[in-house]
Amino acid sequence: MKAKDASEEQLKKDLAELEELYGKYKAKHLHLNISRGLPCKEQLDLNAEMFHILDEKNCVAEDGTDCRQYGVIYGLPECIKLFSDLLHIPEERIILGGESSLNLMYDQMLRIYNWGMLGEKSWSRQAFELSAEGKKLKWLCPVPGYDCHFNLTEALDFEMINIPMLETGPDMDMIESLVKDDPTIKGIWCVPQYSNPTGTVYSDETVERLAKLDTAAKDFVIFWDNAYAVHHIYKENVIKDIFKAAAPYGKEDRILYFFSTAKITFPGSGVCMMASGDEMIRETKQLLKLQIFSHDKLNQLRHVKYLKSPENIISHMKKVAEILRPRFDMVDNILREGLRYSDLYTWVKPDGGYFITVDTYKGTAEEIVTMLEQDGVKVAIVASTYPYFHDPDDTNIRLAPTYPPIEELRTAMEFFCIAANLVGIRHILQERGAL
Ligand SMILES: Cc1ncc(COP(=O)(O)O)c(C=O)c1O
Repeated sequence: MKAKDASEEQLKKDLAELEELYGKYKAKHLHLNISRGLPCKEQLDLNAEMFHILDEKNCVAEDGTDCRQYGVIYGLPECIKLFSDLLHIPEERIILGGESSLNLMYDQMLRIYNWGMLGEKSWSRQAFELSAEGKKLKWLCPVPGYDCHFNLTEALDFEMINIPMLETGPDMDMIESLVKDDPTIKGIWCVPQYSNPTGTVYSDETVERLAKLDTAAKDFVIFWDNAYAVHHIYKENVIKDIFKAAAPYGKEDRILYFFSTAKITFPGSGVCMMASGDEMIRETKQLLKLQIFSHDKLNQLRHVKYLKSPENIISHMKKVAEILRPRFDMVDNILREGLRYSDLYTWVKPDGGYFITVDTYKGTAEEIVTMLEQDGVKVAIVASTYPYFHDPDDTNIRLAPTYPPIEELRTAMEFFCIAANLVGIRHILQERGAL
């Protein structure tokens, strides 16, 4: 039943009960934080062996490279091969970065911003020229999405356009109609598998349509951030290969594919990679020479020795899934049991990834998050899943079940449900003029 259809008397009764319950949780003086998408200690502990895998006699790569030394700027061949075998991308299309894919995305964005790509003017020049007409370059942002992506395109002064996320991925009809005649739209953020935060897995049709997208801009790019490619929890989804889909149309160079081991081994100490078409890789390699002699090859070697093979990575991720599954089950159960009326919040249990998003009753998300934070539980950053921190319907909250100790997660989620019910019912009563 919907709260909207419930009687005023019933809702007031609910409200009184919820206020009492809320008071009980508030009186516990909690200090909990479930807003961060970090691996928990048990997940990190799985990788203890990594600390013992390299020593001074054991730091030479397969081709004899001494990994303590400068050089091998684009990454150790055996580490490139590991990513290539795992993700089915040809080795020559892969460049390794440092410890963070976000850093690599930043670098790639800035490279195109400063130098342009495939013979087109740099984005900075194009932005400067457009500014004379009071216009900006634009960027497509599937929403809800990842705040770090949006922060970067905001900092570069792109006008960000919200693209609704459907069950199949971003709304392709909208994307196709926007990009076909507007050369100022330069790119799109995509997290195609278990997207942050909705857990969406892009359908084959979505991947196909993105791969062949007809754009007015010759320098349109797809930032394909496949951060959760192997983070299955309930089901091993496989998405369509975007490079293969783009090949018949000659559009591989616009795909900028990112991946990292941040949430396989250690965040902040992982290895990341970028892949693209031949020409984009050639241009990127040229520019990379201005930037660095080599990334951390010891870390690359450590990862190869530890992760060994795609099969081993998949079996490692099964262990990670065993740690994460009880957490996701618990959040899902608490949300289900706590829901008083079907219109107070909705959520989807994802097949994998790191997050569960909840959509609360329209116009209440900020109030719920702020209220809980004041009372000791940080569940999310207000509106962080939307560009400019502006959630037009004020409904979306990203929950991150992966990190806190499980009992803390339980308490935080119970408190969250009470708050979401309470604020939702209060709003409905206010809309009726009954409060
Ligand atoms: C979609 C997505 N991309 C990238 C990252 C960051 O990855 P890295 O640690 O490799 O920079 C995250 C981390 O939460 C993420 O959710």
